[in-house]
Amino acid sequence: MQPEPAPRPLRIAVAGKGGVGKTTLTALLAYHFLARGRGVLAIDADPSPCLGPALGFTADELAEAVPLSAMEGVLDERSGGRTGVFRMNPTVADLPERLTVSRGALRLLLLGSVEHGGGGCFCPASSVLRELVRHLMLKEGEVVLLDLYAGVEHLGRATADSVDTMLVVAGPNPRSIATAHQVRRMAQEVGIERLLLVGNGITGNEDAAYLMDRAEDFEIAGMIRASVEALPAERAGRTLYSVDRRAATDVAEIALAVERSATR
Ligand SMILES: Nc1ncnc2c1ncn2[C@@H]1O[C@H](COP(=O)(O)OP(=O)(O)OP(=O)(O)O)[C@@H](O)[C@H]1O
Ligand SMILES: [Mg+2]
Repeated sequence: MQPEPAPRPLRIAVAGKGGVGKTTLTALLAYHFLARGRGVLAIDADPSPCLGPALGFTADELAEAVPLSAMEGVLDERSGGRTGVFRMNPTVADLPERLTVSRGALRLLLLGSVEHGGGGCFCPASSVLRELVRHLMLKEGEVVLLDLYAGVEHLGRATADSVDTMLVVAGPNPRSIATAHQVRRMAQEVGIERLLLVGNGITGNEDAAYLMDRAEDFEIAGMIRASVEALPAERAGRTLYSVDRRAATDVAEIALAVERSATR
């Protein structure tokens, strides 16, 4: 057995085409790192949030959390400026209680949704989020996971500065792989250097071979097998990590690839 690498803080963003498994991967990674005694801050950057249920939080727990997009008042209160609180280099523990829901060493922060048009723009909350991720002071071993929303337009220089590794999820199908390559090109343009592909929904060798072939020179961190447990788990409000040992095994390999990539 290989020795565990020294736990260093990690900031991981998860991107890819809509519905490809970004939230599923983020939740699996969260429980993988928690199982290894590491603190996890999971951030749902999707304006239509789904990470909470995937992490096993109940609707009641989630109703407690005030999304970042609705927090301007508190940020003003605390710092005299909208992003000021983040300039003070907060630790995960410093994050305003109202902003997160937590369970043990797991904290979830919601970016929230702001209506376009009348209700304002989604962009400010998004830039506040990047400020936060960039300035957050992480303790040894802490992991920040950013579940991005589908698409690539939000990939800016600030995202590049704030994450160590971007995982791009694709299924064994041409469209999600094309999106993965597109995300990779755009991410590289803004200076994200560590990009790894993750295959999801793999039903067998044929799927794996298809993905490997079309990945071309996109380095693959690992693959998550299609799970018959996913839907029943979702319905029962349980996490995939807790019900499917194969998914837990698959994500362990992916996490190892991320840690290797972060140290080179
Ligand atoms: N390996 C898998 N096996 C079986 N079902 C899966 C797997 N991965 C994801 N799913 C299911 O596919 C659906 C979409 O997954 P998920 O929500 O993680 O995708 P997403 O990329 O986050 O979607 P969105 O773009 O809407 O945020 C979910 O119902 C999830 O349970
Ligand atoms: Mg999602």
